[in-house]
Amino acid sequence: MKLLVTGGAGYVGSFCVRGLCDRGHEVVVLDNLSAGHKEAVDPRAAFVMADLADARALETLIRDAGFDGALHFAAYLNVGESVAEPLKYYRNNVAHTVTLLELMQKYQILRLVFSSTCACYGIPAAVPITESMPQAPINPYGNTKLAMEWAMRDSARAWKLGVTCLRYFNACGAAADGSHGEDHDPEIHLIPVVLQVALEQRENVQIFGVDYPTRDGSCIRDYIHVDDLVDAHVRAIETQEPGEFRAYNVGTGVGTSVKQVVEAAREVTGHPIPAKPTARRPGDPPELYADPGKLMAELEWQPRHTDIREIIETAWAWHRSHPHGYRHA
Ligand code: UFG
Repeated sequence: MKLLVTGGAGYVGSFCVRGLCDRGHEVVVLDNLSAGHKEAVDPRAAFVMADLADARALETLIRDAGFDGALHFAAYLNVGESVAEPLKYYRNNVAHTVTLLELMQKYQILRLVFSSTCACYGIPAAVPITESMPQAPINPYGNTKLAMEWAMRDSARAWKLGVTCLRYFNACGAAADGSHGEDHDPEIHLIPVVLQVALEQRENVQIFGVDYPTRDGSCIRDYIHVDDLVDAHVRAIETQEPGEFRAYNVGTGVGTSVKQVVEAAREVTGHPIPAKPTARRPGDPPELYADPGKLMAELEWQPRHTDIREIIETAWAWHRSHPHGYRHA
């Protein structure tokens, strides 16, 4: 298939581009490089540096390319920033997605895979989380992702868009050979932050909340390796039918606490990684982990990385060999 990948220079997007190229798909990446890295883009893919805000550039690309489908990753993802600057998130995440959908409708591109999030469930009534549980985000970031899902679901009904929303849990990990990995600036995600302590780029890791009603008082999350996310995207786009709306949780089904992540990173790196208990971070649900049964049953997907130590080993291979990410590679 000929596929448009928005945000294909970002973390999950760039891994998916490699996975799609490996499967023989023809990929065109569109990215404004506001957060992504050109070096992360597989050289087998064509690269267009443009912003989704540039509707004319987007239309020219879509009109001329003849895409069979699209994978939409481009979005802002910093929860704290979304609370402080919600309209920046509605503009970038929601308004620009509407532009993309309008052009997909105009040029009848009827297959889409969307990078959604477990943040759309807010604080779930129970865990593990299934796709049928209420979607009630607790921050603007999650609201924008849910609004995008709605625009897609309504498009599926109205003009036969076929779309799969993949609701990721905590994306993490890197290529086993350390050649590619996660590189955000500023870095906010737990595993890279912990490994920056091991690299002595930070003095300690703050544990945001040790008084949660969980087994060790710290938050529980479902850490899903980026390779397993890639596998879900490839299966989703290759099986997508026009007019069909699907949503899947993408997680391992295993909950791991913040303290367990820090302990596993100590074992992997051999560094003491000082941890400092701190106040809860606003907007953090205590416990999130997936029931990935629907994705396993319908797309025959299986996570290959379920051991947090092994996942952190891949991330460590990347951070150790690229202590400053892609820029100073
Ligand atoms: N955490 C710390 N210290 C840190 C960083 C994180 O204790 O320095 C804790 C957080 O409080 C949380 C866990 O580690 O309990 C994971 O935090 P991350 O910031 O790595 O990820 P989130 O769980 O906040 O992920 C959320 C949503 C994702 C979404 C992401 C976007 O669950 O779906 O934010 O940034 F994609």
